[in-house]
Amino acid sequence: MNPSDIVDIARGEPDFHTPEHIKQAAIDAIHGNFTKYTPQPGIQPLREAIATKFARENGVHVSPDDVVVSCGGKHSVEQTIRATVGPGDEVLIITPHWFAYPAQVRMAGATPVFVDADRNDAYIPDPWRIRDAITSRTRLLILNSPSNPTGAVYPEETLEAIAMLALEHHLYVLSDEVYERLVYDEARHISIASLNEDIALRTITVNSVSKTHAMTGWRIGYAALPDGLAGKVVDIQKNSTSAPCAISQRAALAALTADQSHVDVMLSAYRRRRSWLLKNLEDAPGLAWAAPRGTFYCFVCMEGWKGKRLGSVEVVDGATFADALLRGAGVRVLAATDFGAPDHIRISFAVGDDVLDEGLARMKALLS
Ligand SMILES: Cc1ncc(COP(=O)(O)O)c(C=O)c1O
Repeated sequence: MNPSDIVDIARGEPDFHTPEHIKQAAIDAIHGNFTKYTPQPGIQPLREAIATKFARENGVHVSPDDVVVSCGGKHSVEQTIRATVGPGDEVLIITPHWFAYPAQVRMAGATPVFVDADRNDAYIPDPWRIRDAITSRTRLLILNSPSNPTGAVYPEETLEAIAMLALEHHLYVLSDEVYERLVYDEARHISIASLNEDIALRTITVNSVSKTHAMTGWRIGYAALPDGLAGKVVDIQKNSTSAPCAISQRAALAALTADQSHVDVMLSAYRRRRSWLLKNLEDAPGLAWAAPRGTFYCFVCMEGWKGKRLGSVEVVDGATFADALLRGAGVRVLAATDFGAPDHIRISFAVGDDVLDEGLARMKALLS
């Protein structure tokens, strides 16, 4: 198939362009020769803006000194893992999970331990299962709500129970909140660090401008690091990237401090596409899913197709199912093998309405 005929509904980034006022801030930075190294933890106005944002939007109260700006949410997650665990330690990861977590845990020499969350529970983890997975070697628990790939948004009572467990067992919690603004229906994003002062002291809250402000290529993430962890992360950063890109930091400052109406514009498009996607999936045979409460993904179980032929492909798992969709319908979806869910695929609605429309129509034609 000609690559230009392929409809891509796999992408993990907004289809929107970075808003003009954010781009202008970067242009101004270049013209003002703001092009040198910056302080290692990031420029002070940005760290202050991030601390203000955490307090105002998340109920997370940190000093700007405890904020470290990095080269993306992925970088902040990785630095946090390196700062909190090492060989011999175990890290709990709720599964299905974002692919980078186990890899980063292993890169730090620690061991990932997976705790399954089920579709029947809308992929909300059961705190009892988390408790069962804790050992004397557990140091860190990674949470990601809203979750990539499942779209789960954890309710307050789940976060309360997890916070109690973390405190009881002296765990750190890494709360990856990069999709915080993308929530639907009655779902509400809650930062676990906002629940009480004790858990705030054990929680590293990670965020980024990538998804919320359509800035994936600018590579700016950030973390609130209590308990002296900011210093450890700065030590790591100063020996790796030195600091994030000066120009991108000025752009991120504009994203966080200027008018936020672009976020609502994007959100209303995602909301519309999500409804349309869920309605259209209803009569697609052999598939099962839990409606995503957040993110711009729909996580789909393809078990109904296992052992069947789809076009020229014998379907045995999500990867072969994705391959069959690509070959038979020219539709690219993401196989969730690396997300710890080999019988699943992830469909993105961070694509234009016409792309989603065409992708779904082709997919359904092949499946039926
Ligand atoms: C769950 C999750 N966390 C973190 C990131 C990192 O985003 P970035 O490094 O672009 O800020 C992603 C990106 O896909 C993600 O899905």
